[in-house]
Amino acid sequence: MCGIVGYIGKRNAAPILMDGLEKLSYRGYDSAGIAVIGAGDRITVRKAKGRLENLAALLAASPAEGCVGIGHTRWATHGEPSDLNAHPHTDVKGGIAVVHNGIIENHEALRRFLTAEGAVFVSQTDTEVIAHLLKHLYRGDMKEALLRAIAMLEGSYALGVVCDAEPGVLYCARNDSPLVVGFRDGEGFIASDIPALLSHTRDVLFLEDKEIARLDLGGVSVYDAYGTPSHHELFHVDWDIDSAEKGGYAHYMLKEIHEQPEALQKTFAPRRPQTPGVYEWLPLSPEEARRLRKISIVACGTAYHAGVIGKYAIERLARLPVEAEIASEYRYRDPIIGEEELFIAVSQSGETADTLAALREAKRRGARVMAVCNVVGSTIAREVGEVGTLYTYAGPEIAVASTKAYMTQVEMMVMLAIALGELRGTLPRQEADRMLRELAQLPAKAHQALESEPLLQRFAAGASQKKHVFFVGRGLDYALSMEAALKLKEVSYIFSEAYAAGELKHGPIALLQPGRLVVATITQPALLEKTISNLREVTARGATVVAVCRESLVEKVEGSVEQIIPIPDADDLLAPLLAVIPLQLFAYCMAVSRGCDVDKPRNLAKSVTVE
Ligand code: F6R
Repeated sequence: MCGIVGYIGKRNAAPILMDGLEKLSYRGYDSAGIAVIGAGDRITVRKAKGRLENLAALLAASPAEGCVGIGHTRWATHGEPSDLNAHPHTDVKGGIAVVHNGIIENHEALRRFLTAEGAVFVSQTDTEVIAHLLKHLYRGDMKEALLRAIAMLEGSYALGVVCDAEPGVLYCARNDSPLVVGFRDGEGFIASDIPALLSHTRDVLFLEDKEIARLDLGGVSVYDAYGTPSHHELFHVDWDIDSAEKGGYAHYMLKEIHEQPEALQKTFAPRRPQTPGVYEWLPLSPEEARRLRKISIVACGTAYHAGVIGKYAIERLARLPVEAEIASEYRYRDPIIGEEELFIAVSQSGETADTLAALREAKRRGARVMAVCNVVGSTIAREVGEVGTLYTYAGPEIAVASTKAYMTQVEMMVMLAIALGELRGTLPRQEADRMLRELAQLPAKAHQALESEPLLQRFAAGASQKKHVFFVGRGLDYALSMEAALKLKEVSYIFSEAYAAGELKHGPIALLQPGRLVVATITQPALLEKTISNLREVTARGATVVAVCRESLVEKVEGSVEQIIPIPDADDLLAPLLAVIPLQLFAYCMAVSRGCDVDKPRNLAKSVTVE
């Protein structure tokens, strides 16, 4: 999704803006641009369709010099990717430049109004209305114009604004789209996400909805929607820039797959009960846990798949009905939720628009809310609050395809299931202790699972030209297959689908024929025989079956499939956490073999801040 950056200081802004945009490029984009206030207080705009290299080439040919500027990577929503639709956008005379992340929902009405007032629009974007609107409202103070504009704008936005009448000031504003502000030693920075600021400062502040900030050489002032100054505590970022860089791996995705043992350890260690049966991190008393009647886990994409595993785990251990649902469906389906129900939003970024809206809907209906979230200070985390947010400590995830965040989300789900099970009296203490001991051993086993990489590289080299891949499994293995299919399709562009193995014969088996590839996941002993008979049905149609299989089950699976990728043994609920590793590596290796842009798959964005 779009990324915005801004700089004010004494250095040349363009290289700083370009560096910030590069750091945000993981969010996905199709064009980029910057606006800089230079000599004679004139705004220079440079923008180019495609990769940041195109913009860099343009800047090399015609530089933009000046010490105040804004920059943008655009992920097209209104209007095709093009030089013209790229941000920044300006008013007719080019005296006000704006970058924007989000969607202005009333842009058509505003466009009609501003056109009648003499504005001439040159792009198809919703953003351009903001530049013209600011010009229309400007009476010598951009802060006032911004406040009035915000009262008129409907939708989501993170904005960066510069204007030639106030050449020494950088403005920004937000509503429902992330925006971080930093200031150090006479230099101010704004960005959509922390990695873009980390090489400049570790002390940042997060704007709240409908707030604006004014940055000049003297510092930052923040105002609420009425123009009243508001105070913000600075948030200190304690993770390192190195953890947001590739560290010798060919791609972020591969690095992040390899970081999973550590992520598992970091997420589990602070939550391991010091006293058996006491789960201090769980924001529910034993009484409240017992009174719960239902849980709704709501999320999008990969985070939703983690939620599905959460459903299986919580239902099994805590004997509580759980719904796992896609946020974009949940928010509009008039859900039945209220007191004595727990709503859990799962989100790596904590900024996903649909998940945020679903969370707000659940709060509005009186549900108790919690979040499983990876980004400290993100909107979802802040809306739920410190106590209710269960942070996954996966560290910054840069590759668009989520791997280590998913891993820790699933781990968090299992920990939640254990805690709820014990507090509700449905999971005996000994059983809970055994599972917790197994969780502690998981990082070492995850290291072992990573050893499947060379096998998968070889396999992918032979299979990378496949046009379709099916993923099958039963129970938890079906939930895992859904994630495996999503991972493969998003990074390799191979059509892939997941089916519950028992469902194959109800339709999808018609697609099976010689040459088709089916990847089975087999980690659940209780479902082994049933899964094997399903796989026989597949091989009988001439399709090739590869199985990711728990070591202790390998012997029974041999002979029924073409190739087995073994994973270490673990408890039934934890085995999926190991099985997902070869499945992620499979997607990665297939994408590399096909020459795909693994970290930035086409059309995708890391943080989906629009509906
Ligand atoms: C796929 C992927 C997406 C995200 C989804 C939700 O690899 O990363 O499906 O899981 O967009 O994002 P978050 O977790 O940030 O809410």
